[in-house]
Amino acid sequence: MRDSRETFVNHAFVTGYPIKHSRSPLIHGYWLKQLGLQGSYRAHAVSPDAFPDFIASLKSGQSGFTGGNVTIPHKELAFTLCDRPDVLSTELGAANTLWIEDNLVHATNTDGYGFSANLDERSPGWDFCQTAVILGAGGASRAVIQAVRDRGVKTIHVVNRTVARAKELADRFGPAIHAQPMEALSEVMTGAGLFINTTSLGMDGSDVPPIDFTVMTAGSIVTDIVYVPLKTPILAQAQEQGFVTVDGLGMLLHQAAPGFEKWFGKRPTVDDALRQIIIDDMASHA
Ligand code: ATR
Repeated sequence: MRDSRETFVNHAFVTGYPIKHSRSPLIHGYWLKQLGLQGSYRAHAVSPDAFPDFIASLKSGQSGFTGGNVTIPHKELAFTLCDRPDVLSTELGAANTLWIEDNLVHATNTDGYGFSANLDERSPGWDFCQTAVILGAGGASRAVIQAVRDRGVKTIHVVNRTVARAKELADRFGPAIHAQPMEALSEVMTGAGLFINTTSLGMDGSDVPPIDFTVMTAGSIVTDIVYVPLKTPILAQAQEQGFVTVDGLGMLLHQAAPGFEKWFGKRPTVDDALRQIIIDDMASHA
């Protein structure tokens, strides 16, 4: 899109339904200002019924957007409707980042990148372990499984209350992935070096079963992809037992960076000031 001075100004969106609680405009707004770029990034509510028309408006150029992020409940539909999904989004069957090139909608999924980049920043060497345990087999666990596998962790146990869901993911993501029932949790954690919670366990005020992290190897890392609150009940348990923990906020921040670079042409950095902006926003909505 051109503004009155005939310079290109890029406009990006985050769409979901509902979308008004998204923190992505805060993240991208911070980077636009920090890097002194023109352009905009805004929340754009699109209902599931209207989503196909929205994708069509991206292709035709009518929307005026350069690209954007897609969140719940549109990630699967975005993958289905885009023209050029990359390898990562194809394996996940879900896209969170779109950009337009030659009137075609390209798609990727940066959730796995965000997960790995957060651990790279806060606990480098996290991927040296032989065995990882991932609790949960919902939508959010998929990108985590993909990321941990792609870093070369040899054995990945996916533990889930509904073991059939974990089995589906083992089939999808290959022989490194082992589906396990909840009863096997302690056994598969024994000797593991990385524990990742992807469930909402305990977030609704329900009890979280006690987890014995001490069966893991010394120096193991415990992380959670939930970031509200920053210290989830599972991270609190791990800290009480003396383990290094990494909260999930960095995953949200890092997953945003590749999209920003696509739309606005500069790679942004995740810094402490940005992290603090989101923490302050969380406090103001607590
Ligand atoms: P998301 O897309 O956020 O991952 P989801 O697809 O609903 O959401 O998945 C939520 C995950 O949390 C699932 O692994 C779910 O287990 P089930 O597949 O058995 O439903 C898990 N989960 C949620 N509440 C739970 C609880 N009280 N006990 C154990 N697991 C729970």
